[in-house]
Amino acid sequence: MGAKTFLLLAVLLALYSSVSLADDPGPLQDFCVADYSSQVLVNGYACKQQSQSTADDFFMSGFQTPGNTTNQLGLSITPAFAASIPGTNTLGVSMLRIDYAPGGIYPPHSHPRASEIIIVLKGKLEVGFVPAHPDYRLFNKTLNEGDAYVFPQGLIHYQINTGKHPAVAFSGLSSQNPGVIFIPNTLFGSVPKFPTELLVKAFQVDANVISQLEANF
Ligand SMILES: *[C@@H]1O[C@H](CO)[C@@H](O)[C@H](O)[C@H]1NC(C)=O
Ligand SMILES: *[C@@H]1O[C@H](CO)[C@@H](O)[C@H](O)[C@H]1NC(C)=O
Repeated sequence: MGAKTFLLLAVLLALYSSVSLADDPGPLQDFCVADYSSQVLVNGYACKQQSQSTADDFFMSGFQTPGNTTNQLGLSITPAFAASIPGTNTLGVSMLRIDYAPGGIYPPHSHPRASEIIIVLKGKLEVGFVPAHPDYRLFNKTLNEGDAYVFPQGLIHYQINTGKHPAVAFSGLSSQNPGVIFIPNTLFGSVPKFPTELLVKAFQVDANVISQLEANF
């Protein structure tokens, strides 16, 4: 392999590992309630003075309310990230309520900054993930009420409601801001688009298949 190719590979590898190894840093104080009004840019939100922090900064309500799943995916997400509970700032935790219509899906996606543990409260979900190259096994499982499943940080995973009724799950995530990369939207809905010849070769299909996929996003 030529020196240039090798350099390119090395750069790609370095980029890849910096994405997949992004963790929330450990806190250096008891807490750092997010000051949403601060103009200071830090890795997370700037802190309110501890003396001005209150019990309500650590509180959020509304998780008893089912989300609206009348949409193409049959999915609704109610997040408790640092953007909605200021008290999670710098603590490396967050939570989601997820509602699924019958047949509803959470499409293949990854969280660049968090591992996830999902617990099914109501209904039945099939869930799964695939490890990084070169291990392409699908680790999938059908979950019923009371079952939990773990999605390792950065790996592509999915959920689908395979039951006849609406399903409800809660997820805990190991970041105050896990981030989400939706694979279909990223590949076929980017602006501007990925080069068509790139996607044609990557997916080994005709250009019209790629345009059909892009038309959906
Ligand atoms: C749910 O969302 C759909 C589509 O946006 C909307 O038409 C409908 O009114 C919403 N239902 C409720 C109960 O808010
Ligand atoms: C896992 O995925 C395979 C292939 O899609 C499927 O046949 C199987 O039923 C799934 N297993 C569970 C437990 O959902």
